Amino acid sequence: MTLRGVKGTQDILPPEVDVWRFLEITAAEHFEAYGFREIRTPVMEYTPVFTRSIGETTDIVEKEMYTFLDKGQRSVTLRPEGTAAVVRSYVQNALHARSSVYKLYYMGPMFRYERPQSGRYRQFHQIGAEVFGTADPKVDAEILHMLTQLLSRLGLSELDCQVNSIGCPECRPAYREAVRNFFRARLPELCTECQRRFDTNPLRIMDCKTPKCRELRSGAPAVLDHLDPACRTHFEKFTRFLEILNVPFSLNTNLVRGLDYYTRTTFEVIAEGLGAQNAVVAGGRYDGLVQEFGGPATPAMGFAMGVERTVALIRERFSYEKRPRIFMAALGQTAEEKALELASELRRRGVATELAYDGGALKSQMKRADRANAEYVLIIGDEELSRGVAQLRNMTTKEQTELTLDRIIEHVTSLP
Ligand code: HAM
Repeated sequence: MTLRGVKGTQDILPPEVDVWRFLEITAAEHFEAYGFREIRTPVMEYTPVFTRSIGETTDIVEKEMYTFLDKGQRSVTLRPEGTAAVVRSYVQNALHARSSVYKLYYMGPMFRYERPQSGRYRQFHQIGAEVFGTADPKVDAEILHMLTQLLSRLGLSELDCQVNSIGCPECRPAYREAVRNFFRARLPELCTECQRRFDTNPLRIMDCKTPKCRELRSGAPAVLDHLDPACRTHFEKFTRFLEILNVPFSLNTNLVRGLDYYTRTTFEVIAEGLGAQNAVVAGGRYDGLVQEFGGPATPAMGFAMGVERTVALIRERFSYEKRPRIFMAALGQTAEEKALELASELRRRGVATELAYDGGALKSQMKRADRANAEYVLIIGDEELSRGVAQLRNMTTKEQTELTLDRIIEHVTSLP
């Protein structure tokens, strides 16, 4: 019987894993330069951490969570996203007492029982950042600035950054009613999902992806027309600061997001080339969540980047292939022993070195060096050894140089 991985999960294999490492290291360095520190929360939480924050009537909570009873009959859920877990930790560990503004980033696997397709998985990964303790719209703009700077460091500067405001618990009910009134007459034509949303979560009709619902919402009330004065001022300042910081953005008044905790600013970064699953990064402000978790009133703002989608974009643009610098071809027992010794010394000095295991003729060892994509082959034979030399072959130019054994390490470590 052949055993297979769980549907919707993937193995991250070389050389793709090199792009993952590049992304993770670049993001961590970048966030730390902006004063963010890493937080690592468990991959599972008690279920209410997610149901109470993401919202009982959202797709994630209704259909997508990996929820189970543990052996103590407690309901536990594999995290479908990072924000709720970070907020739980922020409150539980009283991180608000450490500093009035607290900045955290995280990376790791998330789990959603969605229908797998290209760019959508059941185990996927996010790199996220959250700022706690300030409602200043400068932070919203700075977060987007940090994000777009990161994307350009990754070679992805031309992505579309869409922004919106979804108001606050004071002004949103009136907007929700306006949306409901608008769709009431169109209800029978909406998709079955949106007919259900009409009662539970009508704002989600505004970002439904089905062509019919898209068509039906033409002329729908725009959220920006329903913001109360404080939310309006916040949004105007936010976009003004984006302009000052030269962050390119576009307005998408249909951007309501699929999680209930958002207030005011919401945004998404969209990549055209990715097909249906084209949101690479998404985020927004959630000023009420810390308090809902039992913490002090603490406004907050953040985002999460989908790692699989970002890696796909990076791979479209660059090729990443780690190559061994040196491949050791050895002919004869004494030569094999010398090769083992030299390989160990080269690796100690950080030179990626491969050995031709299982011997064989020079031709066969050269073939293996070629398949390993080595930059150079160091050829050592018993006869050459007796003369105190070895041959270094450049696999690109095919040029061969004779080196004396006592100079090999020095020569190889100083190769350009
Ligand atoms: P989200 O929009 O649910 O937001 O997810 C953020 C990103 O994760 C998406 O834009 C997408 O790139 C990626 N993603 C989501 N689901 C999948 C999936 N099934 N397969 C592959 N990639 C996926 C959040 O999770 C919020 N916590 C973001 C946030 C942080 N808001 C404030 N702070």
